[in-house]
Formats: sequence, C-alpha cells, structure tokens
Amino acid sequence: MKAAIISDIHSNLEALQVVIKDIKKRRIKRIFCLGDLVGYGANPNECVEMCMKEADVIIAGNHDWATIDKTSIDKFNPIAAEAIRWTRKNITRQNYKRLEGLKLTHTIKELFLVHATPQKPENWNYLFSLKDFQGQFSNFRGQVCFIGHSHIPAVVFQDANGYTDFLRDNPFPLIKNRRFIVNVGSVGQPRDLDPRASYAIYDGNRRYIEIVRLNYNVLLTQQKILDSGLPEFLADRLMIGK
Ligand SMILES: [Fe+2]
Repeated sequence: MKAAIISDIHSNLEALQVVIKDIKKRRIKRIFCLGDLVGYGANPNECVEMCMKEADVIIAGNHDWATIDKTSIDKFNPIAAEAIRWTRKNITRQNYKRLEGLKLTHTIKELFLVHATPQKPENWNYLFSLKDFQGQFSNFRGQVCFIGHSHIPAVVFQDANGYTDFLRDNPFPLIKNRRFIVNVGSVGQPRDLDPRASYAIYDGNRRYIEIVRLNYNVLLTQQKILDSGLPEFLADRLMIGK
C-alpha cells in the first residue's frame, strides 16, 4: 500500500490544492487525513468538501470538534477561539454534519492514524519533546503511528530495546524491529519556520516514509484571510511559518 497522509489543513484552500495536485502527480491513490480541516483560514467549506472528495479516511482534529461544539474553546488562545467562532458562522449545515461524522482514530494494516496522541486522543495533548513521544509507543499497535496537531513535522523511532530518538533523515527506511511516530506537519499552517505546505508519503512496499514540502500561493491565502475579517495575525504567520 502506498498512501499520502495530510493533516491540519485549517481552511487553507490554496495549500490543500497544491498538496492534492502533487499527490495525484505521483499517482498515489490513497489519502489519509488526520484532521483540523477547519479553523484559522477563510475557506472552511471548500476544504471540508475537498477532503471529503479526495481522502479515504478523515480523522477529527480539535478545531473540527470545537467548530461543532464537541470540544470546548476554553483552552484555545483568543485568536484561535475567534477563528472558531468565525468558522461556526460560515460553515454550511451540510459541512457541519460532515465534521460531526469524523472519528478519533483509525487503524489500517500496520498504520495507526490519530490527530494528537495515541493515548487519550480526545485530550488533544501535544508531543514536542522526546519524553512526550516516548510514552506514546505502548498506546498503539502496528509499526507506524501518524499524527499531526503541533504543525511541526517530526519522526521518532523506538527500537526493540526501547531506545527512542528523533530521526532526521528524509526519506527514511521502515527498518524491521523499529516502530515510528511520524508527525506529518501541516498543510495549511506550518509552524517550523518553513512556510511551505507539509505532508507525508508512506510506501509500504518499498518500505520508506518521506515528508514532502511544497510552495503555494501564500499571498492569496493571506488576502482572503484579511478580506474575511479574521484576525490579521492569522495571515501574517503564514509567510514565516510560525
Ligand atoms: Fe491544527
């Protein structure tokens, strides 16, 4: 099986279009989406509809659940909360219902898909440090867990002895006796100081995973955010990837 794993689109249609086009150009047939289709950007409906059309599996993210009031925005920063209120006003009933139908995890062969963490995914915790990742390996089966949520691409492996470390190689081989947690980064709002859209390719036959970065029309996305009345900061951050 070969698949593309996308996450954290955040209503950024220009970035999503570029990513989907690249996936199709590579003739990858399957797309798994790890959630946060909406929130922050100006095209929630277009992004929900495009994900529904293109993705084989879609997992719920915290912004998806916040939009449908399934998770509280109390823990959201004021700008993120404002974007959720804007999204609630602008999303169609049909797309609202589509967000209600998303599930928290999905297992497909050796892959485990979740938005935030394998352990208690509904708590929306963040994995940043090696210690954060270490505690998660006992909470999923299979060789690879794909996550999003932090908007920062990262790969952590654990060997048969329990040794855990970050992996900097890209692409990297799916070595036997190693398990992996892969943060695929964000399509629509990268935060690793690289503004390019991010997604991952999984090749189960050739046994490798690759993180792909792509330029898109950031200026157009920014203009849409400014025109929509969303907070200006949400436009500014896209150019610097923060
Ligand atoms: Fe997100």
